[in-house]
Amino acid sequence: MTTSEQPDLMSQAARETAYDTYAALRDTNPVSRVRMPTGQDVWLVTGYDECTSFLTDYHRFKTSPTVMPEGMEAPALPEAVVRLLGGSMGSVDPPEHTRQRRLVQQAFTPQYVERLRPGVQQITDQLVDGLLDREERTFDLVEDFAVPLPLTVMSDMLGIPRADRDRFRLWSELLLSLDPTSAQSAPQGMSPAEVMAEIEEFVRYLDALIQRKRAEPGDDLISGMALAEADGERMSDDELLKMVALLVVGGLGTTQHLIGNMVLALFRNPDQLRLLRDKPELAPGAVEEMLRYHGPIEISFPRFAAEDTEIGGVPISRGEMVIGVLAAADRDPGRYPEPDRLDIERTANRHLAFGRGAHMCLGAPLARVEGQVAITTLIARMPDLRPAQSLDETPWRPGLTLRGLTALTVEF
Ligand code: HEM
Repeated sequence: MTTSEQPDLMSQAARETAYDTYAALRDTNPVSRVRMPTGQDVWLVTGYDECTSFLTDYHRFKTSPTVMPEGMEAPALPEAVVRLLGGSMGSVDPPEHTRQRRLVQQAFTPQYVERLRPGVQQITDQLVDGLLDREERTFDLVEDFAVPLPLTVMSDMLGIPRADRDRFRLWSELLLSLDPTSAQSAPQGMSPAEVMAEIEEFVRYLDALIQRKRAEPGDDLISGMALAEADGERMSDDELLKMVALLVVGGLGTTQHLIGNMVLALFRNPDQLRLLRDKPELAPGAVEEMLRYHGPIEISFPRFAAEDTEIGGVPISRGEMVIGVLAAADRDPGRYPEPDRLDIERTANRHLAFGRGAHMCLGAPLARVEGQVAITTLIARMPDLRPAQSLDETPWRPGLTLRGLTALTVEF
């Protein structure tokens, strides 16, 4: 295959039309060769069945860039970024991936995470108390609710002092802004040198934190991971640092955007908002439907073909980059009747918003609990919650990987 399509997918305007762009690609060919805004030619997998089989086949499609095409090299990354994320669980394949995942999996089982629900509820209630106390009956749902909720949950879970939360938010945003598909400039107009200085500071902070946790373990996840054993082996300091960085990068923006996307989806579908208000017991299924409808992660990590192969009959050459478009697969009419309709009572909703296969989201049980608590609490305690801005001009963040809002003014 030599020709590549060049759809506009990253600009802010393109965010609103992205689902149509994906549908056009999927209808023409669920495995299409596309030139990314980064200039790179990749295969985009937009069909549900094709995406599922691609994500679950780690023998043929590797996450680690060890099989790049001739002449192409992995981009050289600054040393601090390599320390934080190079070779972390998200970018290695089994058996190394299996080993790392086993050391942390226990803290993220649905049973374990269910025990965190009362704490998540308490954090959410405190946030809502603060909002209800305000004189003006309006707030920014993103900045005042969707950001602090996962930030507080994650800081408490990891055992990070609450006073340092804002630094974690900044570090997580800075790392996300380095993603070549993010199209997001660094927050607060920081220069590249300032960004790097902050990322180096993040490394120093984590090094010191890990030493403290090793010396005086507490009842938190970092201490737990430091002591966890699999096959008689423990995580090294370096592995622990990468794991914490991965959790911070993977767990904050995603959950924040889930909350914003859910509220937007319900505002745009008032019948569904009414239904959820009348029947809060529908919340677990409603969250799954909103993950399918507006999942906060639009594309998978890139994979590389380990051999000359095919997906859905389309030949792929060894080394070529393949990306699963989760947002497109989750609106495949071959899988879902009326895929563009939000239906919180939808059944058989095995969406791909958390991926599938070996790298399927580690934090999914936690994100589900946070999503359920956030939406039921907002609806119950602010029964008149409504948008205070036009929903036609929704400020989606630019970029391809994350789908989320930069702000959403609401009244109650
Ligand atoms: C709604 C919120 C979230 C969504 C939509 C989401 C989505 C995803 C997806 C799609 C992947 C797999 C990517 C691929 O295979 O290419 C993934 C992996 C991952 N996620 Fe999440 N995530 C969310 C929340 C979280 C949270 C709260 C945490 C941590 C507390 C987390 C930690 C991770 C980690 C560590 C991985 C890598 C797993 C591995 O490589 O084995 N995520 N996530």
